[in-house]
This record gives sequence, structure tokens and C-alpha cells, in this order.
Amino acid sequence: MFSKQTPCYRLLLAFLFFGFVASGETWHYGHEDTWPKMCKEGKRQSPISIDRRKSARKNFSPFIFKNYNKIYSTMLKNNGHSAEVRLKTDEVLTVEGGGLQEVYILDHLHFHWQSEHVIDGYRYPLELHLVHYGKSYGNLSNAVGNEKGVAVFSVLFDLSPDDDVEFTGFIALIDKLKETLDKGERLEDFHIHDYLPRDTAGFYRYLGSLTTPNCTEGIVWTIFTNTIPISESQVKIFHSLKTEEHKELTKNYRPLQKLNGRKVYLKVSPIHKSSRASSLLNAINRDMFLLISILTVSLLY
Ligand SMILES: *[C@@H]1O[C@H](CO)[C@@H](O)[C@H](O)[C@H]1NC(C)=O
Ligand SMILES: *[C@@H]1O[C@H](CO)[C@@H](O)[C@H](O)[C@H]1NC(C)=O
Ligand SMILES: [Zn+2]
Repeated sequence: MFSKQTPCYRLLLAFLFFGFVASGETWHYGHEDTWPKMCKEGKRQSPISIDRRKSARKNFSPFIFKNYNKIYSTMLKNNGHSAEVRLKTDEVLTVEGGGLQEVYILDHLHFHWQSEHVIDGYRYPLELHLVHYGKSYGNLSNAVGNEKGVAVFSVLFDLSPDDDVEFTGFIALIDKLKETLDKGERLEDFHIHDYLPRDTAGFYRYLGSLTTPNCTEGIVWTIFTNTIPISESQVKIFHSLKTEEHKELTKNYRPLQKLNGRKVYLKVSPIHKSSRASSLLNAINRDMFLLISILTVSLLY
């Protein structure tokens, strides 16, 4: 009797559970085995571990950012999986160039702690995702699921000994939001410019997926090689955000995924090269100065 009932009971449980997961309502970090099918069976998944020496050098044109140099009013939210920033403006922030095949529009920003992408074996303390959709699709949900419909820009933060003053207001608001799920707090004076590295010419490029369910593929990834400094105490504030179950969200990065033969391209920033060249020039100038000084002094005596 009991053994007859068990399969039925299991089926019901499985059914309920599958419905729960498939509805996309609930998913958790640390339980990736319960994520939808694509997350487990996809062959072009994100995040990945990037090896600088193994990436293919490619000379992409520079990015053209429009309206990224202004100050915006924003809504900041703890969605139970991340801290999310949405701009409250009629302005359209677009990016093109950099090997992208169309103009992309910024949808929102969110953070992962620690970083999802690992560069040369190093996992950074914080990673920012700027999620964009292809202009031709009109909105993000329309764009997801189309090859190259969505472009995510990733900014890595590295530890510095001092608090970064640019982020003080933002971090204070995150601290305020840690207990409140899905209720937004307004953040005025959001300098989106401060959330991009000063030099955006150097970056990695590959085709991957969303790093959260349902792990849709065909996402164009751009990971800037230049990082932004942040202090350890500022990073710690992110760790105090609470999940739906009122547990501390101490980790919200997905495990590394297999490359499966995908190519990772690297555009080396020309600024990086020229800064090396200019320091060489400085060294030459310094020697010239020394020579002239010696000559002047020896003429005087
Ligand atoms: C996205 O655009 C489509 C039409 O192209 C519309 O049906 C849909 O409601 C939009 N979604 C959102 C979230 O605005
Ligand atoms: C995954 O997302 C894509 C794009 O939004 C959608 O077409 C697809 O139906 C989703 N799959 C599931 C299982 O929710
Ligand atoms: Zn993300």
C-alpha cells in the first residue's frame, strides 16, 4: 500500500517543485542543481574563468557612450538576489562601437559579491553588471532569447585601503535597504560615470549567458580590463543584504561554467600602451634636463 503510494507522492512533489522552479519565482545561490534546464545543460554559459594569455587579441573600435556623463535620479532596490539600480529619467543611455553589432540601451545595473568572472585565477571582491538590450527589440524582455539581443558590461572592483568617497551615498543606502526586500529607495545624484572605469578601451569579449535563471544564452559579454577601487568595509555592506528568508546574502555569484571551445577576445587599451610610451618619454626628458643642467653649471664655472 505504502510502496504504491510513494511514486505518486513523489510525482506530486516533483510536480510542485518543478512548477515552483519553472515559474521563476524562487531560486537560490548554493542550490544551482535546482536551476532550470538551460542552466544545467547549456553549452555557452556564464560566468567563465578568463586567462589573459589564452585570449585572442582583437582590435575592436572604441565604445561610444551617450548620456553616461550625466547625473541621474535612481531607485535602489534589494531584490533578494542583488542590489539593483534603475535610472529614473526620460533620457536614453546608449552604447555602440566596441565590436557591437547594434546600438544597445541601458536597462539597469546590479552587483555581485564576489565577482562572477575570474581573471587569471583572481576573483575580485565585487562585480557590477550594466545590462543593455538591443535598441531594435524595444525592451529587455523582448531582447532576451535573441542571439546578441542583450549586452552585459561588467566592471570589476578591486580592494583599496581607503573608502572610495564617490560611493559613500550609494553604500549608505544599501545599508539602509538590507532588511527591506523589493521596496525601492530613491538615490539622487547618481553619477553613473563613476561606475565605469576611466579607460573603457581595454576589455574582454565573449558570447555567454545570463548568470541567473533562466540562464538564457546569446548574451554579448564585455568585461573591462581596468578596475575601480573600493574599500573592504564598503564591500562588507553588500554582504549584509538579506534574502527573502532573512538570511544574509553573503554570496551571490554563480559557479564558473565550462568554456566548451568558445573564443575569448581581448582588446588591449591603447592608453595603457601610450602611458608606458609617455613614461619612457619622461625618462628621456629627465635625462635631457640633467644634461642641460650639467652643461649650464660647467659653463658658469
Ligand atoms: C516589451 O515590448 C513588447 C512589445 O514589443 C510588449 O508586448 C511587452 O509588454 C514589453 N514588455 C515590457 C516589460 O515592457
Ligand atoms: C527563458 O527566457 C526566455 C527569454 O525570456 C524565454 O523565451 C523562455 O521561455 C524562458 N524559459 C523559461 C523556462 O522560463
Ligand atoms: Zn549579473
